[in-house]
Amino acid sequence: MRGRTLSFSDQLLMDIVGQHPALAVLLEEWGIDSVRCGGLTLAAVCAAQQLDLVELCRLLELAHRANPQGLAGLSRTQLVNHVRGVHHDYLRRHLPGLQEVASLAARLYGSQYQHLRHVEQIVQVLAQELAEQVAREEQFAFPWLGSEEVGAVDRWMLDSLAEERRKSSFRLNCLRFLTNFYAPPSGAGESICRLYTELRNLDRDFQRHVYVEDRYLFPRQLAA
Ligand SMILES: [Fe+2]
Repeated sequence: MRGRTLSFSDQLLMDIVGQHPALAVLLEEWGIDSVRCGGLTLAAVCAAQQLDLVELCRLLELAHRANPQGLAGLSRTQLVNHVRGVHHDYLRRHLPGLQEVASLAARLYGSQYQHLRHVEQIVQVLAQELAEQVAREEQFAFPWLGSEEVGAVDRWMLDSLAEERRKSSFRLNCLRFLTNFYAPPSGAGESICRLYTELRNLDRDFQRHVYVEDRYLFPRQLAA
């Protein structure tokens, strides 16, 4: 199973995109420029950009098997399931741990690194907001967006969801600057390093989450 999961890892990006054009969408979501890095293997690009190769290969395999056209070829129902299963589940699994490690780092090292107290405050607010966004989308927006029969445009709902995403983007931007783009101070303790790693992962997933919703899910409904 593991061997199959890694089947893309040693392929050149130009070959992956050339043979499976729709997978470029997923690579783009992960911040990979398949044109600039076309002569490199996926494994080399992941190493250079500190990306999770195993997870990316797993998602590439899933995307390819589910629909050879990639996300662009998914129905509304499939897009909703993708966002719920990949990005919302990521938040559900990781936010509680992030809140804990942010509190721990502030408590242990807040007097030495005062910005950690500010980081902790932002993390707590952001985690609360993201949890509420996920609940709101799944309770009120997804049943509507995921229906193949419903075609009416509800601009108020789309604007309201976009405003919530903008608020979270602003808070993540603050975290980027406060943490020097998630680069821990030299000699930082384990909890600080863990906090920065989890923040970087959250930021990366959030960018992909917003990309999929803005580019595929919500505009699809507007065009219906
Ligand atoms: Fe979402």
